[in-house]
Amino acid sequence: MNKLRLACFIVPIFMLCGCHKNVKDIQNSSSIDSVFERANTQYKYLADLLPNDRFPRSFEGNKLIASKSNDWCSGFYPGCLLYTFEYTKDSVLLIDAEKSLKVLEPEKTNKATHDLGFMMFCSFGNAYKITGNEAYKNVVKESAYSLASRFDSVVGCIRSWDFSGWNNKWQYPVIIDNMMNLEMLMWAGKEFADSTLTKIAISHADKTMQNHFRDDYSSYHVVSYDTITGAVEKKTTFQGYADESAWARGQGWGLYGFTMMYRFTKDQKYLNHAKGIANYILNNPNMPKDMIPYWDFNALDVPTAKRDASAAAVMASAFLELKDYVSKEDALRYTEAAKKMLSSLSGPEYLAEKETNSGFLLKHSVGHFPKNSEIDTPLIYADYYFLEALLKLKKDEAKSY
Ligand code: GLY
Repeated sequence: MNKLRLACFIVPIFMLCGCHKNVKDIQNSSSIDSVFERANTQYKYLADLLPNDRFPRSFEGNKLIASKSNDWCSGFYPGCLLYTFEYTKDSVLLIDAEKSLKVLEPEKTNKATHDLGFMMFCSFGNAYKITGNEAYKNVVKESAYSLASRFDSVVGCIRSWDFSGWNNKWQYPVIIDNMMNLEMLMWAGKEFADSTLTKIAISHADKTMQNHFRDDYSSYHVVSYDTITGAVEKKTTFQGYADESAWARGQGWGLYGFTMMYRFTKDQKYLNHAKGIANYILNNPNMPKDMIPYWDFNALDVPTAKRDASAAAVMASAFLELKDYVSKEDALRYTEAAKKMLSSLSGPEYLAEKETNSGFLLKHSVGHFPKNSEIDTPLIYADYYFLEALLKLKKDEAKSY
């Protein structure tokens, strides 16, 4: 055997044996690096396409869909910029985030939406955590009180949608998504030592646990309450396939929401509930092998139904927190599920090529299927929870060294 052939034979054996663990770990880390590098490029590209006072939401019909600050998705864009800044330390992203926060700030007094947690905590909450700037903390405080103003003590929940032309079939609708908005109340209740905020969030979570879930821990999308008696009026869907189906992102919101409630309260009932939802998701016969859910677990056209990258991103982020609160065996199951979701999302099927996709990072989400809106498109919140999950994974890797 000549020297060259010998080297070709020995070097790969060395790589496969002695260095196996490191190579695997470096591959994990380097793929997180490369996603954040891609995010950095994408968001700079997106910033050039975006009107100054607008917030990117989706890319549909070859057009960038950008909203005003009062849209429920407005906080995710500064949130994505801040997460990417946190990882890459590229100050251009922080400058862009700050510009966006300025346009968003007036929403702190908006009492017409239950989505204020998404809007103001994913943005200003992160801005405060990352920069320590007290002005951002005060914006969160004011936003928390605006959100709390939507609480009704007879029903025991924060109202989701106000009565309007499109929303005239529910007396007092509460959607599972609203669990996510409680994080801002729980955080502010603790930070500003105001138990009123905490009690509102706990009441809402308890009512939701009681009325939104079926015996198998799948969740209804909309539960409406009688405004006089506070009793359940009806259980329906808005964005899912059917009233009795399990809309995928809704299952993600529930998983994340109850995990978060356990983080703040350490009340075992929330942990048990989150574990029940986790089992529903992980044991679902309609969960595809790559762990990117169909837009509804009960969509009639499974296995050709559209996938929802945003549902996977929300679930992955939730699993990476829930794993910290459970047995080793469950922690392993949740971590493996999250990693599978994240590695599918980081692959070519879901991750956008440089300077494509109008600057969004992920492709293939579903916004509102029954309304024929945002089907198989990018969605800014898919990007947000994807980056959040990757940051959690990166922090875990750093801890394990
Ligand atoms: N309503 C928020 C969502 O589409 O998940």
